Amino acid sequence: MSSTDNQNTIVINLNCCDTIIGMENIFNEIVALCKRRGFVYPGSEIYGGLANTYDYGPMGVELLRNIKNAWWDFFVTKRENIYGLDTNILMSPKVWEASGHTASFTDVTLDCKECHMRTRADHLIEDHFSKQNKEIKVEGLSTEEFDRIITAEKIPCPNCGKQKWTPSRKFNLLFETHIGIVSGEKSLAYLRGEIAQGMFVNFKNVLDSLSPKLPFGLAQSGAAFRNEVTMGKFTFRTLQFNLSEFEYFFDPKEGWEKYYDEWKKEMWVWSTEILQLKSENLRWRLHTDDERSHYSKKTEDIEYQFPFGFKELYGLAYRTDYDLKNHMEKSGVDLQYTNKITNEKFIPHVLEPTFGMDRTFLAVLFNSYKEEEVNGKKRIVLSLPKYLAPYIAAVFPLVANKENIVKKAREVYEKLKTNDQRPTTAIAWDERGNIGKRYFAQDEIGTPYCITVDYQTLEDSTVTVRDRDSMKQERVKIEDLTNYVNKRS
Ligand code: GAP
Repeated sequence: MSSTDNQNTIVINLNCCDTIIGMENIFNEIVALCKRRGFVYPGSEIYGGLANTYDYGPMGVELLRNIKNAWWDFFVTKRENIYGLDTNILMSPKVWEASGHTASFTDVTLDCKECHMRTRADHLIEDHFSKQNKEIKVEGLSTEEFDRIITAEKIPCPNCGKQKWTPSRKFNLLFETHIGIVSGEKSLAYLRGEIAQGMFVNFKNVLDSLSPKLPFGLAQSGAAFRNEVTMGKFTFRTLQFNLSEFEYFFDPKEGWEKYYDEWKKEMWVWSTEILQLKSENLRWRLHTDDERSHYSKKTEDIEYQFPFGFKELYGLAYRTDYDLKNHMEKSGVDLQYTNKITNEKFIPHVLEPTFGMDRTFLAVLFNSYKEEEVNGKKRIVLSLPKYLAPYIAAVFPLVANKENIVKKAREVYEKLKTNDQRPTTAIAWDERGNIGKRYFAQDEIGTPYCITVDYQTLEDSTVTVRDRDSMKQERVKIEDLTNYVNKRS
């Protein structure tokens, strides 16, 4: 807890992670804030909702876009040898057979015979043990072993409390759909379970069109779909989610460890310096042999400490030549790389840094959420990195019924809005209610600067700029405003 004196206001900072607020409360507060301020809405809400689906609202879409743009800028635009792609959600079902997803992309689930709720066996057991403050390792257990633990521990259904489980079984996560190619006929297809496959199946196209030299990467951002069985952690695990990842191809003779270490460092820089996530809430965790995906020789996750515990945020996997080799075998197309100097042909190996954008969005929210007490009142503020905020600044006319003040404020707004040197963040306009309420609303969506045009503006062409974090106010000349906002964003 700290206190600072700011214009006769005592501010008490209650840090997000202080026990004063409590982890569960923070989670509920942030979910409520997301709905209240238009960051995230429950999916299909007017029809009672569709479990594990969410929609981004006007503030959320800006924050998510800014995060995705920052990712693209850091990992693609600023690097000479990483190329972007935008591949299709629907791919030939043969892709998913070759990649091993139709056979191995599974979770172990079981159903309650009483209330018909489906749940993941690993989550059911982990939650049971964590309620008793005990840890258990469930990775790689067989369905029989899951059943034995559930029976021995007499684990009840979290929904109805009964102990009437079906036996556990493997449940494939790929979403099936059908394509009507010929009228009346339907053929099976899948919504992509990972975006990586779009990069592998276009590997030859990129070699043919750009002739890139190894090592190089293929990157993309887009939606992935998984038929997840999950219980209520907001947007942490959803049926549709946003992924950004790249496949980094290299000559296996050079060894994979040095590239692995390089990308591991860059992922940490992205998390702590670009996103400014507090490093004490981040950690690396190595996958055990049993839990690693079928394509990976080594995987490590960056985990973030969410209010519901340390959970996977990102992953780094050494996928060897697994994917290219399988696609080459199954498609019959030569996917080898030719070294132009030695004429040697070989299948490159691949490292894959992968980044869930919805989880990034959540982590950024948790990282920036603060509750403070100001003059006996609660202030909620999102101290977002400035370049990520939905609006970089808000412009207010002090009063909405004075034509000359509104006109001047509109001029300031237009001037700031049309400034093309700044990153994409937009400018808000608000003339409703009193200034205090407007500050309150902008704090909750994380707007770094509130600019008020008042009577003095008409005399000396200065405005009041109020800083989101310190709440300090200063007079700034209109002509200096663009630089003021840009410099600090
Ligand atoms: N191509 C590799 C791959 O897809 P993954 O670990 O299965 O790897 C990548 O997923 C990232 O996607 C995870 O680190 C996580 O951030 C995010 N993610 C995975 N499943 C998710 C889900 N159901 N909802 C939201 N994000 C998810």
